[in-house]
Amino acid sequence: MRFFIDTANIDEIKNAHELGILSGVTTNPSLVAKEGVDFHDRLREITSIVTEGSVSAEVISTEAEGMIEEGKELAAIAPNITVKVPMTLEGLKAVRTFADLNIKTNVTLVFSTNQALLAARAGATYVSPFLGRLDDIGHDGLELISAIAEVFDIHSIDTEIIAASVRHPVHVTEAAMRGAHIATIPHKVIAQLASHPLTDAGIERFLSDWEKANA
Ligand code: E4P
Repeated sequence: MRFFIDTANIDEIKNAHELGILSGVTTNPSLVAKEGVDFHDRLREITSIVTEGSVSAEVISTEAEGMIEEGKELAAIAPNITVKVPMTLEGLKAVRTFADLNIKTNVTLVFSTNQALLAARAGATYVSPFLGRLDDIGHDGLELISAIAEVFDIHSIDTEIIAASVRHPVHVTEAAMRGAHIATIPHKVIAQLASHPLTDAGIERFLSDWEKANA
């Protein structure tokens, strides 16, 4: 499983990029609004840091025509822009058009296997099932990853599954075990993945043994 970072914050993107673990970035309108910057300018900044991995940029329109117009403009910003489209009937029409134009798409706000299957058949490059938001309403987000992975496998579908709305490290491990190709993770959770109390205690003990022996 590969890692994307789920943020529009430049410092967080730079930091994750420096770790050498980053395969892409996902943004959404809420994340961009939090930054208080021009969307297209921010995408230019992001794609100057992440030059190869996919950078998802979401459309705001709710009609296919508007989505297509917006998506073409977003895709023109950099070759690694992926147009993020909401999982609606209008969104499916737009995804089909983008697929025919060889523009990559990430179908977002996926909450069921049927939605994922429809998105894949419309030609989506990625589907993003939202784990945390399903957990929030008492469903099992990780079960959705398993079901989508199984259906895609049975039908040899090459659309990639991005585990999204990731809230904690267990989501990441389980998403990997259940067949997600990618997890898009907030910066805070990336730091949590790297940390273990026994690693910290081990370093402390090695250093103190070293100091005692070399005192
Ligand atoms: C995915 O692409 C979305 O940007 C994101 O994962 C949403 O996460 P949230 O439910 O924490 O807002």
